[in-house]
Amino acid sequence: MKILVVGGAGYIGSHMVKLLAQQGCKVTVFDNLSFGHVDAVLHGALVVGDLADTQALDALFSTHDFDVVMHFASSILVGESVQNPAKYYRNNVANTQNLLDTMVKYDVKKFIFSSTAAIFGEPQYTPIDEVHPKLPINPYGRSKWMVEQILEDYDRAYALKSICLRYFNACGADPDGKLGERHDPETHLIPLVLQAAAGKRDNITVFGQDYGTPDGTCIRDYIHIVDLCQAHWLGIQHLSNYNQSKRYNLGNGDGFSVQQVIDVCKLVTGKDISVLCGERREGDPAILVADASLAVSELAWKPRYVKLEEIVSHAWQWELKGKDD
Ligand code: UFG
Repeated sequence: MKILVVGGAGYIGSHMVKLLAQQGCKVTVFDNLSFGHVDAVLHGALVVGDLADTQALDALFSTHDFDVVMHFASSILVGESVQNPAKYYRNNVANTQNLLDTMVKYDVKKFIFSSTAAIFGEPQYTPIDEVHPKLPINPYGRSKWMVEQILEDYDRAYALKSICLRYFNACGADPDGKLGERHDPETHLIPLVLQAAAGKRDNITVFGQDYGTPDGTCIRDYIHIVDLCQAHWLGIQHLSNYNQSKRYNLGNGDGFSVQQVIDVCKLVTGKDISVLCGERREGDPAILVADASLAVSELAWKPRYVKLEEIVSHAWQWELKGKDD
């Protein structure tokens, strides 16, 4: 199978490329390297380019014959999306449309899209299933929900079939230690706590300890990057077998509080981690946990690394390698 991985030099995309290569796929990565890393592309061919550049897309699609396109390239910072919505609608919506239009033009009709739990907004019940109302509360979530809606219309009009995967908290690292999370700036909890454990930052600030949860800190559903990628691979099989558009929530179905994450990080690293109490971060729901039973039943998805200790120990192994940039 010939697969185009847009954003394949980034955190999730690079792990996906590794899995696709293990499955015998021929992979082409298209990445503008604004956040991705050349040395994270362990397999396949890297084409450096931007989704804003429709000529580059034409050149790519006219010289390749892709069976499936996977799209991991987007702007992901919720706070930044509120300050600079133009960037989010341009990168996440308009540029995605460039990609979709090129697919239609070259008759490539299978698409795997990275969506997010942020499309649901403030949870109305927990765990969150696929039919939960979509009421995103920031431009980031809205941009992803817009693309999901565009995909519905493109299916109806152009028979472009898609699988949208709504990630909860993607985390962890390649168990072989070859890949991991390298965001700049880093905003995610686990890598930040591990940077504090490694002495790269002085402390970690807990954003709010007065939520209506057992220990007062926010609860999230942390899903190992390898399990996340496995769900994408199963999504490709599903598209190949049934040629049907679907949307799935991806998480472990188990929530861990910020305090529990810090405690597990202390345990795994054996380091003392200095913890500060901070204000709540705007837009953080108290609890975000996925009901991923649809992916389990329809895709036969079986998350493998469900223990937080395992997730953290893979992330710690990566942190100790010290690839910062
Ligand atoms: N947190 C802290 N201190 C920090 C960083 C995070 O206490 O320094 C807390 C957050 O407040 C949150 C939890 O740790 O309660 C997890 O925060 P992350 O930033 O790691 O992840 P989020 O849950 O905010 O974000 C994830 C995805 C986003 C997506 C969002 C959906 O990474 O892409 O879920 O709401 F938009």
